Amino acid sequence: MQKPTEQNAPAPVPPSASPQATSSHPPPSSETTFDSIITQNEEMRAALKKASRAAASDVTILLLGESGTGKELVARAIHNASTRKDKAFIAVNCSALTETLLESELFGHERGSFTGAEAKRRGRFEMADSGTLFLDEIGDMAPSAQAKILRAIEYREFERIGGEDSVRVDVRVVAATNRPLPQMIENGEFREDLYFRLNEVRIEIPPLRRRKEDIAVLSEAFIKEFAAAFKRDVKGISHVAMAYLMKHDWPGNVRELRAQIKRAVTVAERDTLWLEDFSINVKVIDTELPLSDSDDLSLATVERRHIERVLELTKGNKRQACVHLKIARPTLDRKLKEYGVKIQR
Ligand SMILES: Nc1ncnc2c1ncn2[C@@H]1O[C@H](COP(=O)(O)OP(=O)(O)OP(=O)(O)O)[C@@H](O)[C@H]1O
Ligand SMILES: [Mg+2]
Repeated sequence: MQKPTEQNAPAPVPPSASPQATSSHPPPSSETTFDSIITQNEEMRAALKKASRAAASDVTILLLGESGTGKELVARAIHNASTRKDKAFIAVNCSALTETLLESELFGHERGSFTGAEAKRRGRFEMADSGTLFLDEIGDMAPSAQAKILRAIEYREFERIGGEDSVRVDVRVVAATNRPLPQMIENGEFREDLYFRLNEVRIEIPPLRRRKEDIAVLSEAFIKEFAAAFKRDVKGISHVAMAYLMKHDWPGNVRELRAQIKRAVTVAERDTLWLEDFSINVKVIDTELPLSDSDDLSLATVERRHIERVLELTKGNKRQACVHLKIARPTLDRKLKEYGVKIQR
């Protein structure tokens, strides 16, 4: 039998290259709660439980996890579950700013403190007063900035650039990174004292490939979201496509899955997403559905699924399917009726 190929699929688009992939996100912080974070996985549930318990106090929380695992989502949920929920949630992407810009961004500056500083400006620490300061990509911060931020976190006090008076703030700090901080400490790239300061509560968000049971529930939620947003009549995902999504490694984690579903919903021609609607690079071409993926291993179920897969391969063409299956047309029709298989075209 021929194996499904992606030859007919449009050229692969890396999810991060899609400008729309992040346009509707991150969601407004007022909407993100622990209940809106989708998961069926024990390790993830335990991480969320730990985060929600820590949310109530003012401890500094360090979120560790690969890119796209949902660290910012968790940070927003922590804020919204805390007593600070009605105050500001201020996010700073520490990797996006140069050393000098980062300092002025975090601590603000006095008027005339450097060329171009025409007015006094409040920094993110001040804006987050009474609220939560989310220091994203903390592992990418330059060593001198690390020293300054340590002091500010330790004493909740700092000076604006060019200023003499100390500014006191009441902020809750949540930090996140996808970098291996202990290794960076050994290499002299990250300050150990800052690590200990941030690490009051550490929460590790597992990568998607370690919580494969989440692929189905997340896909379902993203299909609903994008079908509604693009007014497309897409309701689900085929067995074959799902089996391939389960095999994929997801280096870009939930963000990559979301971008894949978004793309698939956009290009789909049926009310079910087929393999050809996705652009993932599937390393293994496997003609079998993974057995663990199914709790019904009766021969009838396997036969029904095999027929569905072949029909998917032939894009619903029954004559071609009969050729692959090496059965006569009346046999196929009888089996389709018996199993209640509807042809998707
Ligand atoms: N459990 C989840 N349920 C629903 N959506 C999720 C979930 N986890 C992540 N997402 C979505 O995936 C995308 C990436 O999540 P987020 O930005 O929180 O990841 P991140 O860990 O901060 O990534 P990076 O390290 O690249 O900044 C967002 O669009 C987010 O809404
Ligand atoms: Mg992030």
